[in-house]
Amino acid sequence: MNVVANYLNFIGGEWVSASSGETHEHFNPAKPSESIGFTTVSTVGDVEKAVEAAKSAAAGWKAMSSVNRGEILRKAADILEERADDIAKTATQEMGKRFIETKGEALRGASILRYYAQEGMRKKGEVLPSAANGTTLLAVRVPVGVVAAITPWNFPIAIPIWKIAPALVFGNPVVWKPGQETGITAAKVTKVFEDAGLPAGVLNLVLGRGSVVGDVLTTHKDVAAVTFTGSNAVGQNIAKLATEHGKKFQLELGGKNPAVVLEDANLDLAARLVVEGAMKQTGQRCTATSRAYVEASIYDEFVEKVIENAKQITIGDGLQDGITMGPVASKKQFDTVTGYIQKGKDEGAELLYGGSTLDIDGGYYIEPTIFGNATHEMTIVNEEIFGPVVALMKVADYNEALEKANNTIYGLSAAVFTDSLEKAFHFMENSEVGMVQINGETGGAEPQAPFGGTKASGQGPKEQGQSAAEFFTTNKTVTINPFTK
Ligand code: UN1
Repeated sequence: MNVVANYLNFIGGEWVSASSGETHEHFNPAKPSESIGFTTVSTVGDVEKAVEAAKSAAAGWKAMSSVNRGEILRKAADILEERADDIAKTATQEMGKRFIETKGEALRGASILRYYAQEGMRKKGEVLPSAANGTTLLAVRVPVGVVAAITPWNFPIAIPIWKIAPALVFGNPVVWKPGQETGITAAKVTKVFEDAGLPAGVLNLVLGRGSVVGDVLTTHKDVAAVTFTGSNAVGQNIAKLATEHGKKFQLELGGKNPAVVLEDANLDLAARLVVEGAMKQTGQRCTATSRAYVEASIYDEFVEKVIENAKQITIGDGLQDGITMGPVASKKQFDTVTGYIQKGKDEGAELLYGGSTLDIDGGYYIEPTIFGNATHEMTIVNEEIFGPVVALMKVADYNEALEKANNTIYGLSAAVFTDSLEKAFHFMENSEVGMVQINGETGGAEPQAPFGGTKASGQGPKEQGQSAAEFFTTNKTVTINPFTK
């Protein structure tokens, strides 16, 4: 379906052009001469209309039983599954990730919707004992109010759904601002909710530039809570504005996720999962493996196995069969990532594999890049790259690995490869991250488990699972004394 169409905002149940009249053209990063379509470019006024629509829908949505709200999510899951191929293809064309990955995301989205559909049937509070005789004391979960969801381009289907689904089932209307790069995918995801029967105004989509509409979404008097996934710079601005304006906020930010590889590990497994962790989605995941600390005794053997794995990677348009890595998402990403590779070389890291760009149809292709003998002072070991690059480092032992793995501002995810129960447990207890993988790759998320980091990787309640209730609801404490005579 390569119809060059114009995708609009969805406000108060209507598909409408932004008041600017401006459009943004989307090009395929695998073939930048190919136009995918246009999206409308919102102004501050459009955001205000969307917030107003959400505010008007709030009371009706809150009044609907959570069981019935969940039923709409369940329908949305079915529709999303039916349209998974089309939506996944659009996402691949917009941001380059392989079809198998975007399709996986659509199916993950359906599974998140089903999880939160069921949530509508679970408990919404607690009955507590009261010190006053005869009094019933309740702690009831109630909606927070209008939620602003600001989402990135790298998971254009699953991340929005893991914010929107819990926001909705817990009774909140939403204004969604997706990454501009993936606005067409966002319009198709929004259509899924419309077709599932969501009442007008409960989910509103505003397309456009974050730099124009982000601040007003965060500070608007009728927005109660802001949930954001994206860069640390933008996240810090949201934290500042949200605090000043008294909004609740939830931030899921960057990572610099380490893998620790010990001499007793299954090295084939470790090498495969370090390469997968680094290269899946062309490294454009906040959970990507971007540094590995390897015990000196097995370093050379491990390097060989890593290179073997990297050699298996086939690069090309993510819509083609047999491709294992697509392009990066945009020219901007291409320039940033190649800049980091150059820095790695300049600062003296050993280039073990890759490091070059490829010209296929003018697409933004970068080889899987493995640096060796990196040191802790290098930029590529400290800054989030968000591309297919991993730095390997030799360490004397587990203690040095743990200390270096923790020596970062970030704290999203970390992996350890070992057969030692003692070291695995020690790592689980002492790794300063939100998610630990023992003999697993750093990425991945399941709808029923909390997702998110510590330190500079995140703030506020975790996403997904039961933690989502902490963000999307607030407690109302109620005492009832029935004996008034
Ligand atoms: C995953 O690893 O499957 O932006 C999820 C990101 C994360 C999601 C990662 N928020 O990469």
